[in-house]
Amino acid sequence: MEKTYRAINWNVLDDALDKAVWEKLTEQFWLDTRIPLSNDLNDWKKMKEEEHALVEKVFGGLTLLDTLQSVDGMSALKKDALTSHETAVLNNIEFMESVHAKSYSSIFSTLNTPTEIEEIFEWTEKNEYLQYKAEKICAIYRGDDALMKKAASVFLESFLFYSGFYAPLYFLGHNRLNNVAEIIKLILRDESVHGTYIGYKFQIRYRALAEEEQEKLKFEIVNLLYDLYQNEEKYTHELYDELGWTEDVGIFLRYNANKALMNLGFEPLFEETATDVNPVVMNGISTSTSNHDFFSQVGNGYLLGSVEAMGDDDYWI
Ligand SMILES: [Fe+2]
Ligand SMILES: [Fe+2]
Repeated sequence: MEKTYRAINWNVLDDALDKAVWEKLTEQFWLDTRIPLSNDLNDWKKMKEEEHALVEKVFGGLTLLDTLQSVDGMSALKKDALTSHETAVLNNIEFMESVHAKSYSSIFSTLNTPTEIEEIFEWTEKNEYLQYKAEKICAIYRGDDALMKKAASVFLESFLFYSGFYAPLYFLGHNRLNNVAEIIKLILRDESVHGTYIGYKFQIRYRALAEEEQEKLKFEIVNLLYDLYQNEEKYTHELYDELGWTEDVGIFLRYNANKALMNLGFEPLFEETATDVNPVVMNGISTSTSNHDFFSQVGNGYLLGSVEAMGDDDYWI
């Protein structure tokens, strides 16, 4: 007889966190189409050419990373899922990564001309540092090491996005592009849960390894982080040198690299802590509108429409 196909039963859980994360992620569901991006057009017109170029490039880069997560990342992680509940959570993450990737196109179509949009996407294909990180992570996703795949995913979620997030958070701190920033904060809030969840799943499997295997894997993971960090430094120089923000962005990157390591249960490698990060940028992460904390609710700035059942009155035209 063939193997029995088992229906998912949410009333019997191997890991209660799967249900908690499912609930958390569905509660904070959002769509880019509900954010009034055109309200930022006046700000955009007042910004310098170099600032436009920076925003376009960081969002092009973020689009590429979210595409990678939605197209290859979650399907790679699903192959190693231990339960159908874990698969369900990864399905949710996969869809939201598509929402994230699409959001940048909504931003571009509001702020940019079709020719500019074409140039942004061409740039993402040609930029060597961006392609380097995408290829590095993608190669791991296409391999068969379940733990390295999770580590790569956490590095993407909790570290690699932040060279891009810095720019909109900085502008938000100076009261510019507030609606664009609202989208970024919603994305950031999702990535925070994704990084924590996948990191937690990593830790469970890592702890089950023999000490020798743990050491070997940790060495490989720390090497991956340094490799990505060195590439991230070059990417940051290319993007931020003209505006003179590179040093500040570097601090932010090292702070987030530490957070990524902590999500995997490892000690931080860099000396930077939250107090070293530009407070204007840090503020953008932690405002109550779209809280970065794991257990926060849907942001104040984003409210789902309330729905009521149709009644006879609705047919009186
Ligand atoms: Fe994402
Ligand atoms: Fe994510």
